[in-house]
Amino acid sequence: MIHDNDTSNYSGNRPFEDVLRASLSRRNLLTRSAALSATGFLAALAGNRNVVNGAIAATTQGTSDVVAQGSDVIVAQRLSPAINFSPVPVAAGSGPVPTISSDYQYDVLIPWGTPIQPGGPEYTGDPNSRPTASQQTQQVGIGHDGMWLFPIGNGNDHGMLAINHEFGTNPHILGKDNPESLEDVRLSQHAHGVSVVEVRKQNGQWQVVSSNNSRRIHVNTPVTFSGAAANSNLLRTPAGNPALGTVNNCANGKTPWDTYLTCEENFNGYFGVPTDGTFTATPEQRRYGFSAEGFGYGWQNFDPRFDLSNPAYKNEENRFGWIVEIDPMDGSQTPVKRTALGRFKHENAEVVVGQGGRAVVYMGDDERFDYIYKFVSESNWRSMRARGISPLDRGKLYVAKFNEDGTGEWLELTIANPVLSAQFNDQAEVLTYARIAGDLVGATPMDRPEWITAAPNGEVYCTLTNNSRRTPAQVNAANPLGPNPDGHIIRWRDSNNYVGLTFTWDIFILAQDTHAEGDERTFSSPDGLWADADGRLFIQTDGPQQKGLNDQMLVADLTPALSAACLRE
Ligand code: FEO
Ligand code: CA
Repeated sequence: MIHDNDTSNYSGNRPFEDVLRASLSRRNLLTRSAALSATGFLAALAGNRNVVNGAIAATTQGTSDVVAQGSDVIVAQRLSPAINFSPVPVAAGSGPVPTISSDYQYDVLIPWGTPIQPGGPEYTGDPNSRPTASQQTQQVGIGHDGMWLFPIGNGNDHGMLAINHEFGTNPHILGKDNPESLEDVRLSQHAHGVSVVEVRKQNGQWQVVSSNNSRRIHVNTPVTFSGAAANSNLLRTPAGNPALGTVNNCANGKTPWDTYLTCEENFNGYFGVPTDGTFTATPEQRRYGFSAEGFGYGWQNFDPRFDLSNPAYKNEENRFGWIVEIDPMDGSQTPVKRTALGRFKHENAEVVVGQGGRAVVYMGDDERFDYIYKFVSESNWRSMRARGISPLDRGKLYVAKFNEDGTGEWLELTIANPVLSAQFNDQAEVLTYARIAGDLVGATPMDRPEWITAAPNGEVYCTLTNNSRRTPAQVNAANPLGPNPDGHIIRWRDSNNYVGLTFTWDIFILAQDTHAEGDERTFSSPDGLWADADGRLFIQTDGPQQKGLNDQMLVADLTPALSAACLRE
């Protein structure tokens, strides 16, 4: 999908060649691990993560990497240590089947329609039939994206797999361009959201097993709000309808207390105006990309919650665009939308523990010219939880400003800031319209922030997937190309062990199509990103690739940098 917005306009002057030189001198070797032929996102792996004697130990023998691709999950068994595997040649791979390193093997797990409990209603993908909306609530959804495996027991062969279902088009889900009934809309809504399924490796193969805690969370599942905006009128409708559902669940996160975070990204596209209706967007709605047409799902024709012109459902759209916390081990838990983390088009949520045991959450807003945020909990996460307070409910939200000289600042998004109190009435408004707050404080507009990941040495990496609309006049040091068709990866290090308000940054790599055949930078649209504790940075692409290549998964070896960091400690 193409996403856009109406803000922009910071310019910078750092010469491109300087940036490129810096990037080349500090970059480490990239190796292709697998060429994936369709959209794919990296998910977590529960493996050994030991750093021994200041060196990066290769301790991942036999662990499993779980990778989402399209509407399937592929389980790859890592057979060789560290980054020492047979790479897939740059030009290899085509068609719907992934080309994968000979050192890995894969199975397909939980495609769309798989019953979340063995023996449940199954949809096998027959294009001439569809599941009912009711059946879909008992089946794995569509458009697999971010996910996390929460281990059960001590081994690595059993766990709760929480997985996002970002989106599916009407032709894909319904077999037609437009819904023709509320039943059609409900089927589409139930195919979105999150699945939590219990999976177990039996006889060498992962499979779904029966569970008390497997569940589907979709667009009509009861949810609650917490944090400073929870009781705001901005999250209430005149109709008084209860808060329901999550949608366009893109990437994800995992908290130190072992819950799952699902991130609502392009929620705006599910709202619209019925055929022949009229609608004039407010400035706030414009800033979040709402339009009469939406993305063409047509839900508003049969479900008034998604009708922007229906006064009874005013503010319903403010109930989306949040990060939602799910307990994968408790199927009866009501998902909680954590408003303190701000409302925008959330990509993922990288949670780390910073100085004083505070929970720090890094988040990207995936839109052209939008921002990178971080949240810092009020105090030590263990102590907060011992007092019955969620670390994600109390704390401060910040937005990033990247200076031209390689330094940066985290700008506070609180109502205490006079710039914000001049525009907003309370903290609930600041959080609900976090994008506008970011505009006002002078955040740096980025080239579509996607995933963020923290390496074990304290460096934080973010994929900036591309920005075809940045003009030469709009380049800045952190976004040095205008246009930027192929994207780049930026990294920074915060002061005070993640919680400080200043940082230093540089560009890790620029993806460009000007490179020669075979050059390791020959990739486009970096998206999924994961730094493991052993010094590997996994990079997944999502978008048209240079030279007609398929989407790819690459691995960068961060070992020299990490070794140095470990030795210093
Ligand atoms: Fe859903 Fe920004 O990828
Ligand atoms: Ca993407």
